[in-house]
Amino acid sequence: MQDGKKISGFSKLSKTEKIQWLAQNFLYSNPIEVVKDFASFWHDNIEDQKVFEGFSENTVSNFHMPFGIAPNFFINGNDYAIPMVTEESSVVAACANAAKFWYEKGGFKAEVLNSVKLGHVHFTFKGDTAKLKTFFPELKSKLINGVKDITKNMVNRGGGISNIELLDLSHKEECLFQLKCSFETVDSMGANFINSCLEAFAEILVEEIQLSPLFSLKEKDVSVIMSILSNFTPDCVVRAEVSCPIDQLGYFNDGAMKPEEFAEKFATAVRIAEIDPYRATTHNKGIMNGIDSVVIATGNDFRAVEACAHTYAAKDGQYKSLTHCSIENNIFRFYIEVPLALGTVGGLTGLHPLAKKSMELMGNPKAHELMKIVAVVGLAQNFAALKSLTTTGIQAGHMKMHLNNILSHFHATEGEVEVALVHFKDRVVSFSAVREYLQLLRTV
Ligand code: MEV
Repeated sequence: MQDGKKISGFSKLSKTEKIQWLAQNFLYSNPIEVVKDFASFWHDNIEDQKVFEGFSENTVSNFHMPFGIAPNFFINGNDYAIPMVTEESSVVAACANAAKFWYEKGGFKAEVLNSVKLGHVHFTFKGDTAKLKTFFPELKSKLINGVKDITKNMVNRGGGISNIELLDLSHKEECLFQLKCSFETVDSMGANFINSCLEAFAEILVEEIQLSPLFSLKEKDVSVIMSILSNFTPDCVVRAEVSCPIDQLGYFNDGAMKPEEFAEKFATAVRIAEIDPYRATTHNKGIMNGIDSVVIATGNDFRAVEACAHTYAAKDGQYKSLTHCSIENNIFRFYIEVPLALGTVGGLTGLHPLAKKSMELMGNPKAHELMKIVAVVGLAQNFAALKSLTTTGIQAGHMKMHLNNILSHFHATEGEVEVALVHFKDRVVSFSAVREYLQLLRTV
């Protein structure tokens, strides 16, 4: 077998050596230039650079993303300027636009409905199920007592283990059982806490079954398959909403669209996302444009939040919209219910200098407050998208925002950017239109 470009000990190489190896094996250009390219994104401050490198492994550089601000958010009577990290043009502008739109109409109301986190010990038991069920209450108190060292600090902060249930899954997979464990993790996302408890539960489970006289030798052959938190947290949900009398929505499309027509079209657009999974996916993607950007800006785990949101959207057996809209007694109401397992202590939030700044910007919120802010941003983002889609269409605004990216792709000078922005103010922006315009500018 040929070894090709297989390497041992890559992780032990210095940053520069790693880049040199890349230059020799994959980037094939001048190693000095390759090192320079990567190094140009290193932080000037060596200590800060060490912090960034510490987040992950085999780091060779930093990958920059824009850190933007959506001001004018009025949530539960408080003002916020919200940090958003996203690479997609027009997301922050659209969100800020929705925030401003709702500011004078009373802003956003948000509440945390519950905050239960879950984890499971999956195990096989080949004995008498009735015996296991009889034994469970005794086991449950042993499990809770057995992890007191791990839960002590969390209990002092108001959290801990809320419940442990025994689930019989043997009708789905032979001999399969589960300890379904519920936790309250207060201001931390709680992944490490939950996983530590679960692994300890697994050991106690095996030990206690060995020690119990209830089970025969054969029945003591319990096998733990795995112990891990679940990123699906259907009982860690936030509700956020906006509402106003229909006439306060105002006129759209330069006065051509009346508030009633807008409200009806908007509500129909939401219903389409409730019945059609194709639309629901794009609709929810737009919501996640907002949610992810704040989740990233605060150093939270956006993959966990994404995975959970989509499972929640499919919880009734069909993938649906996370937002809903109603028009009753002349009141337009638009709301979101979304699970958000977020933390404000621990993890990257306390380590990344800009995540710390994000938190400071929002008044160092506790986890519940952050959950409300993030849900509101998801709702605002969706409002902005649907407002555009049901009035002017999405491309007009989006391509305007994208114009800067296209101009920078063609290395437009400051002067060219200035005139191009004026030129495209009332014209359709497209990649080819910008290229042709720049060609024209450059030939005269
Ligand atoms: C683009 O990133 C997001 C939208 O497609 C969302 C939507 O269609 O609702 C604009």
